[in-house]
Parts: sequence; C-alpha cells; structure tokens
Amino acid sequence: MKKKKKKKLLRDRWSSHLIFLFAAIGSAVGLGNVWRFPYLAGKYGGGAFLVPYLIVLFLLGIPILILEYALGKRMQKGAVGAFGKIHPRLRGIGVNAIFVGFIVCAYYAVVMAWSLIYFFHSFKVSWASAPKEFFFSKVLEMSSNIRFLDGINWIVFIALIAVWILIYFCVWKGTKSVGKVVMITMPLPIILIIILTIRGITLPGSLEGILFYITPNFKALFDMQVWNAAISQIFFTLSIAFGIMIAYASFTDNMQVKKDAWITAVANSVISIVAGFAVFSTLGFMAAKQAVPVSEVAAAGPSLAFIAYPQALSLMPWAVLFSLVFFITLMSLAIDSAFSLVEAVSTVFSDKFKKWSKHWIAAGVCFVGFLFGIIFTTRAGMYFLDLFDHFATNYGLVLVGIFECIAVGWFFGADKLRKYINRGADWKLGKWWEISIKYICPIVLAYLIIAQLVIDISKNYGNYPNWAIYIGWGAVLVPIITGIIVSFWPNKKK
Ligand code: TRP
Repeated sequence: MKKKKKKKLLRDRWSSHLIFLFAAIGSAVGLGNVWRFPYLAGKYGGGAFLVPYLIVLFLLGIPILILEYALGKRMQKGAVGAFGKIHPRLRGIGVNAIFVGFIVCAYYAVVMAWSLIYFFHSFKVSWASAPKEFFFSKVLEMSSNIRFLDGINWIVFIALIAVWILIYFCVWKGTKSVGKVVMITMPLPIILIIILTIRGITLPGSLEGILFYITPNFKALFDMQVWNAAISQIFFTLSIAFGIMIAYASFTDNMQVKKDAWITAVANSVISIVAGFAVFSTLGFMAAKQAVPVSEVAAAGPSLAFIAYPQALSLMPWAVLFSLVFFITLMSLAIDSAFSLVEAVSTVFSDKFKKWSKHWIAAGVCFVGFLFGIIFTTRAGMYFLDLFDHFATNYGLVLVGIFECIAVGWFFGADKLRKYINRGADWKLGKWWEISIKYICPIVLAYLIIAQLVIDISKNYGNYPNWAIYIGWGAVLVPIITGIIVSFWPNKKK
C-alpha cells in the first residue's frame, strides 16, 4: 500500500498555456521596464540606445530565453535539477543562477517597500514641496556615507515585512496561486502604464521630453559602457540567468518554445519603450513648467521613480490620483517579478526534498529573502543596494549566462536541444540558434565582462572604499563558490 502512495508525485502544472505566458511576461515586465530602461535610454544616446538594446535582444537575449524555456520543458526540473540532468557536476550552474537571483530579489523587494511607503504618502502628495529631501532624508533617512550604517530605518523595515508577506501569499500554493495572481498583476500595470502615457503625452511641454528620449545620438554606439548597459539590461529585464524561466517552463509540457520566447520578449520590450514615453513626456512637462532643459530633470536610477517622476506628478492636476496610479503600477509591476524568483528557488528545493511541504519551503525562502534584505533597510541601505546591483547584474548574471551557454551548447549539445525544440513546433528554430548559443553568446559575454573588469579595476566602482568593493565581489564569488561546492558534493542518486 505504501508503495502505491509513493508513486510519482505529479509535477505542478499551469492551469493553461495562457497563464504560463502571463506568468512569464509578468516576471519579465517589472521595475526594470519602468525606471531602468528609460533611464538607460536617456543616459546612453536616447533613441540610439535602441540599437544596442535590440541587437543584444535578438543576438543574445532571445536565444538564451529559448535555451531556458527548452531546458525547463525538457528536463521538468528547476534550474539545479535541469543542469544536473545534463551532468551532475553542472548542478552548480543552477545554484549560481538562483543565488544571484536571490540577491537581486532581496534588494528588489526593498525598492517595492519604498513604493509601498510612497503609495501611502500619495494621499497627501507629501513629497510635493521638496521631492529630493523627501526621498533621501524623510523616506530613506540616508546616511552620508556607506561607512555609516546608522541603524535600521524602521519604516522601511516594516514596509519590507509587508512586501514579503504579500509575496508569500502569491506563491504559497505554487502554480495554483501564482496563476490566479498573474491574471491581475500582469495586465493591470500595463493598463495603468497606458493611462500614464496618455496623461503624459497630452501635457503641455511633453514633446520636449519625448524628443530628449528618442533623438538618437549615434556617437554613443562607440562607447563600450553603452553595450555593457544594454547587455545587463536585457538579462535583467528578460529575467534570464536567474533560473526563473527554467522553473516556469518546467511546469509546462506543451509550450511552444520559440514562439513563446518571442512573445515574452516582444511584449516586454514594447512595454519598456511605451513606459519610456510615459516617463519622458511627463518629465518634459515638468521641465517646461520650471523653465529648465529636460536633461536637468531627467535623473538617474532610483531617483527617477522616486524623485523626478513623482515631482512631475505633483505638478499636474489630479496629482493624488495619478500618484496613486503610479505607485500601484510600480507595486503590481514588481510583485510578479519578485515572486517568480521565489518560485524558482522553491522549485529547486522541492525538486530535491520531495517530502518537504511546499508551503514551508516558500515561507522559508521568503523569510531568508527578508533577512538578506535587512542590510538595505539600514540608513546606508541605498549604497549597498547600488553596490549589489552593480556587481550582481554586471558580473553575476553575465557569468551565469556564459555557463548556461557552455553547458547546453557544448555538453548537452545545442543541436540535440534544437531538435527537441523543433519537434511539433509551430515556429521552427534555425541553425543560427546553435551558432548563437555555442559561439556568439559566450564570446560576446566574456568580452564584455573583461571590458567591465578593466573599468572596475582602474577605479573603485562608485568611489566606494575597498572593503565595500570586496563585499560587492562577494556577491559574485559566493554564489559561484556555492555552485562549485554543490557540483562536487557527492550525489547519492545515480
Ligand atoms: N525582470 C525584472 C524587471 O525587469 C527584474 C528581475 C529579473 C527580477 N529577475 C528578478 C526581480 C528576480 C526580482 C527577482 O524588473
């Protein structure tokens, strides 16, 4: 009797193919589309940034997304098990991927916590009089230097707890609950972005902003930094090299690998480009109102979403309403990216420890993610966030990308996986894909890592002190070393 009970537990399944697509697009579309992409475009050559962005998307992004989808579907396992099925020694690649993803998720949740705080402040548009001070002094209470942790900022801390509780309740029943949640969290922010775009382009002065955004500066294409930025953005935005897409694809058995990868990637990039219009048209309006050039209000990184854009919102009619809309957009955009990573990690554990309850695994992952995030809730949190983001996205992800391509291209066999993908496929995958995975991706990625390394060695990133830079390297090396340890850990099975 016992034997029967033990008989194969069926793998978690999406309730429909559409839900899988919603979940995958939901993971891809996140804060990366709304503040990272527009900011990079503004900084690196405006419309010309689209050139490296699209080249990298087609040359590296989509091929690697196809690789991850195919691997998940074929192996029916999360990242660690999937690479382990190629060869047990390759398990470390999966470990490396989810570990880097975990680091990203830890700070990503903190950005969500800020959004939550801003959501509550939206009712009074509390930042209106001094948006910059509001962000740095009131919300973050930021210390003057990374050296001074200055204790925990309890408001951010509590908001972070709330965010992790939200994330937990999205994933606690695996694909069942995720499937329900993504029916809302995928389309809702898209609709809201469209509303914000229409609002933005109908404001006086918006044209200046849009021109700033799209006017190409082709000189930028000769700058290595631009290409680096495009690559890390593509990895980040498509959620590749995190083990996420492998896990999501492992819950399907009838997906169309190539077609679904294209749908995911195109939807994601269209949303990025549209979000750029929302952001820059609104900034154009603010620049006109303050009679300053757009370049002056187009700020970098987090300050775009938490200073410049909210400030512009405060100047428009119905400021409260549009502020609420904006911060709901941020939250709903981010949450399905964050829980996709929790799913990726949980899947790895439930693949390995079949007897553990999934609820507890998910709770454990969320709890550890929260603990990890505490460093970002200190008053020096912003510096650490910047540091971890730099190292995890520029090195961690790109290295995982190289390892994935080598493992599949050279160990498993790109030809073998391509044949598998093409079996019963609507859209056939050409030979170019094998070339991309075996040669183009690893070579281009390795070249970029070296180029970035040269920059970072000549000058400490962000002028941070040496010890902080070592911590940054820790975020790259600890996942790799953990991967190596797992790879060489004696495997009882087989
Ligand atoms: N794709 C997400 C975005 O564009 C970012 C992301 C990728 C992410 N992987 C993640 C966020 C893992 C949290 C955890 O915003």
